[in-house]
Amino acid sequence: MSLKEAYAPYFKIGAAVSRWDLESEAAKNLMKEEFSTFTAENEMKPMFFLNKDACLAEPEKYNLNPAMQYDFCKKYLQFAMDNKIALRGHTLCWHNQTPKWFYYKNYDENSEFAEKEVLLARLENYIHNVLDFIQTNYPGVIYAWDVVNEVVDEGDFRKSIWYQTCGFDFIETAFASARKYADPEVSLFYNDYESATAWKRDFIIENVLKPLQAKGLVDGMGMQCHLVMDHPTVEEFQTAVEMYGALGLQVQCTELDIHNADPSEESMKALGDRYASFFKVLVDAKKAGKANITSVTFWCLLDEHSWLTGFRKETSYPLLFHGNCEKKYAYYAVMDVVKA
Ligand code: GLA
Repeated sequence: MSLKEAYAPYFKIGAAVSRWDLESEAAKNLMKEEFSTFTAENEMKPMFFLNKDACLAEPEKYNLNPAMQYDFCKKYLQFAMDNKIALRGHTLCWHNQTPKWFYYKNYDENSEFAEKEVLLARLENYIHNVLDFIQTNYPGVIYAWDVVNEVVDEGDFRKSIWYQTCGFDFIETAFASARKYADPEVSLFYNDYESATAWKRDFIIENVLKPLQAKGLVDGMGMQCHLVMDHPTVEEFQTAVEMYGALGLQVQCTELDIHNADPSEESMKALGDRYASFFKVLVDAKKAGKANITSVTFWCLLDEHSWLTGFRKETSYPLLFHGNCEKKYAYYAVMDVVKA
């Protein structure tokens, strides 16, 4: 029995996948065997879809509707379609990995930021372009999109360029555009980290989810779940899952990993036990009807490829598989939650 089979009664199980994974037979086989969903780790973010050369060459032509390029996303969509693995779209609007030139008048970084109306038009058209391309060429492959990522920080809305120039309206425009252009069966998510922390959980519920929900624009809360060994507590996590669930929205764990820098047997056992307690919360909440959890996605496939080691440079052993796709203790611990 595989992870995806064991968890099929409850929710999809996924992993973030890189362009290198799609070139590795071992990684592709692992995805096909164990996972029912995946996310492109990077190549479906704005910096990969926006065509800088074309925008800069003809800024007037592209002023309201940015020039696009679609080459980077194709291998993910094709792999998903060929293997009938559901793909999570990540992410349509984010302050990171969106090139700075995108926000400027005439796309000229020596100028000033474009007016709000121009930026909101660029955002709507960008989302329209992405969704149209994908839904036309790969129909039915994407079942959920992170529409907006990480707009809450330091007790308030994050002071990103999006927020400075457009206030809350960029969030609403992103969701309204996604709702307008996404196929009706596609679920629209707000996604954020530290989403089990009390102040942030409450801020997201009151200031992001409820206003969007009142307008019928959001379908789910994406809890990223980049966890560490002693934070958050299982109780904090359970409370947050149930509070998001109580809104009547779907809940997904979108980027699950548990940072752990100690590969000793004892420490890897503790990692597995911690994973098991979080999965137990998720399964129990789903069974009890306290939260409609629809998928849980690990952030990367193998320890060796984790962003914690690669991007954050904190050597880490945070996942269920390592080396040549070998299963770690954590794999069996997560399986035991549903086998028991
Ligand atoms: C955030 C983003 C992800 C990814 C991670 C780090 O959580 O949502 O796309 O970039 O940071 O890898």
